[in-house]
Amino acid sequence: MKHLVRAVAAAALVVAAPVLAHAEPTIIKFAHVVAANTPKGLAADHFKTCAEAKLPGRVVVEVYPSSQLFDDDNVLEAMLLGDVQFAAPSLSKFNKYTRKLDIFDLPFLFDDLAAAERFQHSAAGQSLLTSMEDKGILGLGYWHNGMKQLSANTPLRVPADAAGKKFRVQPSDILTAQFDAVGALAVKKPFSEVFMLLQTKAIDGQENTWSNIYSQRYHEVQKYITETNHGLLDYLLVTSAEYWNGLPADMRTVLSGCLDEATGVNNKAAYDKSVGDKQKVIAAGTSEVLTLTPEEKAQWRDAMKPVWNKFKDVIGEDLIEAAVASNQSPQ
Ligand code: SIN
Repeated sequence: MKHLVRAVAAAALVVAAPVLAHAEPTIIKFAHVVAANTPKGLAADHFKTCAEAKLPGRVVVEVYPSSQLFDDDNVLEAMLLGDVQFAAPSLSKFNKYTRKLDIFDLPFLFDDLAAAERFQHSAAGQSLLTSMEDKGILGLGYWHNGMKQLSANTPLRVPADAAGKKFRVQPSDILTAQFDAVGALAVKKPFSEVFMLLQTKAIDGQENTWSNIYSQRYHEVQKYITETNHGLLDYLLVTSAEYWNGLPADMRTVLSGCLDEATGVNNKAAYDKSVGDKQKVIAAGTSEVLTLTPEEKAQWRDAMKPVWNKFKDVIGEDLIEAAVASNQSPQ
């Protein structure tokens, strides 16, 4: 009997050994909606390169750009179901889970990207990373894209020029209210549909950053782009808390380091592209880029800023004050 037990155990080892030697790597999926050659696209690709180099044979990272796997309106649900592990949707796309992040949609809140970064790094900004913990979503950090510009097929110099026109917005009530405030109509549509909607003239205009305008070729289907810098489009890098906390500690440490590196890649590209992609749009010559006078810009600010009042209670006045304070750079 003893011999039989030993023989069975030995046979089991022979069968198990190749399985252990060739343990399958963990698949990590990172889904996003933009093109690969954008700040977020470059950052996701850097994360893949870094993670696979530092965890050889243990992880394979699959990056799905251009809404190939999920659109932003279903990626968070998919993440909670374990169908995707990382995403970095625009900050305008979390309002089903928290209203705190709505703050980033307030028009004319930040003077520039540097001010947004100061707020994101402040105690108030950092506290928002965990604002969806009770829903199982963990914010791992902010990624920049840039300040938004307005486009249409007629010149938009003052708010009255937008009246009666239909603009695509992300799924945010603040962005809808912002266009209501200038007498325009906002339509909430997924990013993947915007080019087609502009091309077929189902909508008149849109708001987005230089990098998204250039990489999605909006400048080929819009005659005028006004440099309004009226709002921010940044991202929250997220994962599921259950997934993140369930990772082996050493793997989590390495992935965390790679995500930090990816943040650096993202933010450098965001600053570079906010200048470089604007120049590429101008060089393409398919649309005219309009620069506002200080008086014209003040008209947009005066028309849109009353929107703050409508949303101050859901966001919290303290949070808004902290964001406004970030416009003062430290001496
Ligand atoms: C993105 O930059 O991820 C897309 C933003 C949008 O939906 O306009």
